[in-house]
Amino acid sequence: MSAPDYSTALRSHRCGDLRPEHIGQPVSLTGWVGRRREHGEHLAFIDLRDYSGTIQCVVAEQVDARSEYVIRVEGMVRARPDGTVNTNLPTGDVEVGDCHVEVLRTAEPPPFPIDARADGVDEGTRLEYRYLDLRRARMQRNLRLRSAVNSAVRTSMEAQGFVEVETPMLMPSTPEGAREFLVPSRKGQGAFYALPQSPQLFKQLLMVAGVDRYYQIARCLRDEDLRADRQYEFIQLDMEMSFVEVDDVLAAISESVLAATGAVTGERPGEIGRLTWHDAMNRFGSDKPDLRFAMELIELTDLFADTGFKAFAGAEAVKGLRVEGGAGEFGRNRLDKLTDRAKSLGAKGLVWIKIGSGGELESPVAKFLSDTEQAALVERTGAGEGDLLLIVADAWPTACEVSGQLRNDLCRPPVHQGPYQFVWIVDFPLFVGVDDTSGRPLPGHHAFCMPNPDDVDRLESDPMSVRALAYDLVLNGWELGSGSIRIHDDALQRRVFRQLGISDEDADRKFGFFLNPFRYGAPPHGGFAFGLDRLVAILAGEENIREVIAFPKTQSGSDPMTGAPFAVDPHQLAALGLRIVPE
Ligand code: AMO
Ligand code: AMP
Repeated sequence: MSAPDYSTALRSHRCGDLRPEHIGQPVSLTGWVGRRREHGEHLAFIDLRDYSGTIQCVVAEQVDARSEYVIRVEGMVRARPDGTVNTNLPTGDVEVGDCHVEVLRTAEPPPFPIDARADGVDEGTRLEYRYLDLRRARMQRNLRLRSAVNSAVRTSMEAQGFVEVETPMLMPSTPEGAREFLVPSRKGQGAFYALPQSPQLFKQLLMVAGVDRYYQIARCLRDEDLRADRQYEFIQLDMEMSFVEVDDVLAAISESVLAATGAVTGERPGEIGRLTWHDAMNRFGSDKPDLRFAMELIELTDLFADTGFKAFAGAEAVKGLRVEGGAGEFGRNRLDKLTDRAKSLGAKGLVWIKIGSGGELESPVAKFLSDTEQAALVERTGAGEGDLLLIVADAWPTACEVSGQLRNDLCRPPVHQGPYQFVWIVDFPLFVGVDDTSGRPLPGHHAFCMPNPDDVDRLESDPMSVRALAYDLVLNGWELGSGSIRIHDDALQRRVFRQLGISDEDADRKFGFFLNPFRYGAPPHGGFAFGLDRLVAILAGEENIREVIAFPKTQSGSDPMTGAPFAVDPHQLAALGLRIVPE
């Protein structure tokens, strides 16, 4: 593809485009005034900036062009004189001389410098003046990287025969898990639409409709607590395909994610490996394991099967971590903090053991462990002099999760630091935990996931042991996306609903619009959705998705630029039949 022609009626080139090959050419440029330096009375150096870069303009005429004024410059490209070449600037070999400057728009001084790094600027201020924040090189780069990822994802999906279909933003409330944003209906007072948490239901109906391969770069909305990887509004690459098994979906998504990564980094990562959910939990203590570093959980359960040590006796699982060389680093204070951390994560406690210079175990609990246990512990963990062992005994999920969190606390690099470690987590459980009040199992992903055919006969007798045909894609310890093969059989769907405490009548009432269409011929189908904001943030080297969203909300859910959310006029409420009840 040839490069775009960026010239317009007002300019011949972009600021960042000028090179020695342009020397001798008259040019017209447009942009914002960056730095300006005066050389005596009659000479000024103006750095002219647009998103493509900056170029030095040497201006001999009197002109009032201050920081961030929008100007148009006509002049002649020439080589910079000896000794003034700026090797830090792509345009640094040249400058524009004989400049005539036209001010297109004056500007007030910006509340923070646009050219300098804005690391010190408070985020509230950056978001209040987001249009200036976005003018900065880093944000321009992020916006354009995001556009490149979108484009690569689209190209990849289309090359694989997926068709883009748009789904509604105003839809019925659905039980996907997160809290929904509701929109009052004016015509049907007292009735509400919900904004989509995802296009889940519609994309499945598109399969009933025979679309076969659907995708959408879809806007989703969830009223959740905001975090580094969460916004109210976010974008998914959403897809669904018919007549498939798990491998088909994984292959299609792998292709698009790897293509997008390759498109922006220049290097397409290798094939994406797989871990079962059970192995991920057992070995890394997380369903989104960060595989950029080793330090696996060490299985110790069998070593303490007959132990006399109360804390370990009878525990369903005993998990250890070996912190190489940690004995010296971790004094009493840090160990106490680690213990508090483990407790705050739900552990009953944390055992620490240091390996002394003679290979002896140094720990307040060493005396409770038999010689055989001590020897077996050293052998199993491979611990040597100067190492620190951390051990959690508990129910299997707790022992794994707490150890996994400590593993992350101790070693996990920032999410955006390379290399890019993708991994598929497959075979998620159909249900995770139980609802405190009803005692019913809770869906692991959502209520429409296909149980693994090998496990489905245990759906009623031992529901918690049933695996789902559900999978996640993980990148550097972030959940990038989720999906599953769906239930396309009515009887099976109702069996799963019943386990979740949804009776046939409830199902018909709440999901009739979704279940009824399946009666007209639902093909076997499955799909996936990944968070584009998350992928782009990691590829852009950012730790927070706010940095790759043009107009994000703050942590507290507000927008300092527009002031949203706002109270509305009483007459707007009245038209909707709504009244605000004072707290
Ligand atoms: P799920 O709810 O797991 O699956 O969402 C898929 C992916 O969307 C991203 N994501 C978010 N990103 C930013 N802010 C948020 N608040 C947020 N919530 C989710 C994550 C997540 O992995 N319909 C199913 C998919 C399917 O089964 O096909 C779904 O939405 O990257
Ligand atoms: P720069 O590295 O582009 O910021 O330039 C550094 C400094 O070199 C400028 O601030 C000027 O003082 C000087 N300089 C750059 N270009 C010229 C020039 N064409 N003639 C004289 N001095 C220059």
